[in-house]
Amino acid sequence: MKKYVVLTGAGISAESGIRTFRDSGGLWEDHDVEQVASPEGFQADPKLVWQFYKDRYAQSLSVEPNIAHFALKKMEDNLQDNFHLITQNVDGLHSRAGSERVIEMHGSLSTAFCCACNANYPLAELDLSVAIPVCKKCGKSLRPDIVWFGEIPYYLYEIEQLLKDCDVFMVIGTSGSVYPAAGFVMTAKLFGAHTIAVNLDRPDNLGFIDEMHQGKCTELLPPLVDKILSRA
Ligand code: APR
Repeated sequence: MKKYVVLTGAGISAESGIRTFRDSGGLWEDHDVEQVASPEGFQADPKLVWQFYKDRYAQSLSVEPNIAHFALKKMEDNLQDNFHLITQNVDGLHSRAGSERVIEMHGSLSTAFCCACNANYPLAELDLSVAIPVCKKCGKSLRPDIVWFGEIPYYLYEIEQLLKDCDVFMVIGTSGSVYPAAGFVMTAKLFGAHTIAVNLDRPDNLGFIDEMHQGKCTELLPPLVDKILSRA
């Protein structure tokens, strides 16, 4: 049986009602990336950064996974250990669609950790009415569990092993412009994988894509998954 690795980005959650980052109307149009998504920004104005992520957390809870998220849950159910899902998204929608082994390489909106002692907390257990939530163990400031620009994404070693070992690598709903995730398709292809993209626009790393499916993932992904599973 072939081994599949899938990388998703903001485009898969767009039709659930979550804004992407770089499309027209995207989040980075009305927010300064340096201010809200960098360690320096957090140091300069932690209240502003916390407000930004509290709002995004609340919004993520107000929307539902869509049929593209469910199509990947179906892949996991059918392919089991021959399927791995990596996401750049922090919205938790893959897990809410039932996916059990999601690799959240850019962190999660639903957790926070202590800048001093590293203790990790679900946001659901924190008092979010205060401007900057504090650690219950040491009393220091918590920060959102988000990998910001200039920081190293989570699980890179595990991801590299998966990329080298897979037969098919799929990228779904991502502009292919933010590294290291944008380079995964190149690694997978160099190690012999067939590469597939499902995206509304042509991604920046199109040169490494063998099979491009251009359009909305809610329309293109469910039939593509059915086709893959019928052959597996
Ligand atoms: N179906 C398929 N693709 C879509 C859809 C849709 N309905 N809507 C938008 N897209 C595509 C767009 O064409 C675009 O190429 O999704 C892509 C979204 O790109 P970005 O906004 O750049 O999001 P992403 O690639 O996930 O960003 C990567 O950048 O700011 C950081 O940390 C943040 O994880 C994020 C990273």
